Amino acid sequence: MELNQVIAARRSIRAYEEGKAVSREAVEEILRAAAMAPSWKNSQTARSYVVMSEPLVDQVRETCLPEFNQKNCRHAPVLIVTAFVKGRSGFDNQGNAVNELGDEWGAYDLGLHNENLVLKARDMGLATLIMGIRDEAKLRELLPIPKEQQIGAVIALGYAEGQPKMPARKELSETAVFL
Ligand SMILES: Cc1cc2nc3c(=O)[nH]c(=O)nc-3n(C[C@H](O)[C@H](O)[C@H](O)COP(=O)(O)O)c2cc1C
Repeated sequence: MELNQVIAARRSIRAYEEGKAVSREAVEEILRAAAMAPSWKNSQTARSYVVMSEPLVDQVRETCLPEFNQKNCRHAPVLIVTAFVKGRSGFDNQGNAVNELGDEWGAYDLGLHNENLVLKARDMGLATLIMGIRDEAKLRELLPIPKEQQIGAVIALGYAEGQPKMPARKELSETAVFL
């Protein structure tokens, strides 16, 4: 797909086709595209925990997500728990924050990584839902995520059942200032 089409066609998908698996190769292709995102001094601190064995997907969904997000990603065959290594992006070699944002730069880089991820998935005919409302402590109980890493969103991946309309966007006049 042409880039503008992918950007326009990507939606947060809250209904997934049941029984339609996504291959490991497809997930790897998506993650390679995600890794092409820019990052602070090319620090590449984004990490992905790809949950795709059915019993673990069920466990993560049912124990780490609130009820409404469990419903939103029901039947999604893959859940990608994204994280970033703390204290690197936005920090100098001595471990000092370079400016007031500190580890927020790690979250910034993870967001860029995840945007590539969801756009690449859409380009491949797949659907995603970024879920920021998740239980960090429960994710840590289930998955081997080191304490040096901050957990970000859980991203559902699968095949969409239907295509929702785009939620309205603000006018440029409300969000951009030209000086
Ligand atoms: C950081 C972040 C966290 C989000 N968390 C959730 C969530 O927990 N549950 C959910 O259903 N949607 C979640 N969303 C999806 C947004 O609601 C959605 O992107 C927005 O309404 C615009 O719709 P669109 O993605 O279809 O353009 C999240 C999106 C982002 C970027």
